[in-house]
Amino acid sequence: MSDSLGERKQWTQLIHVDEVEQGASRIEYAKKACFVVRDEETFLVFDSICPHRNVNIPSDAIQGMTLVCPMHQWKFNLENGECIEKGNYAPLNKIQHKVENGMLYLFL
Ligand code: FES
Repeated sequence: MSDSLGERKQWTQLIHVDEVEQGASRIEYAKKACFVVRDEETFLVFDSICPHRNVNIPSDAIQGMTLVCPMHQWKFNLENGECIEKGNYAPLNKIQHKVENGMLYLFL
C-alpha cells in the first residue's frame, strides 16, 4: 500500500506490549507520536496530530478516556477517536496496528 506521496507503508515496531499502560498513553516514535489506548489486551492507536490544524497534541491533553487539544479545546473520545465537543466533528486519525510476538506494530 502507498500513501499520497507514493511512499510504501510498512509495519514498524513501536513498543513491547508489557510497556504499554492500561488506559491512554502517548508514545513517541521517529519524531512523531501516537496515542495508544489499552483495554487489557485490546489496543487502539491514534495519530497525535489534531485533525483541526495539525497541532501535535501533548500527553497532558489526556483526561481519562478523553483527549482535549490544548489549541482550541476540541474534545475526542479515546474509545473510538470521535470528536465529542467543539470543532467540526472530524475524528482523530486511527493508525492500523497489530500485536505480534508481544510487540505492538504500526502500519506507517
Ligand atoms: S488545533 Fe486542535 S483543536 Fe484546533
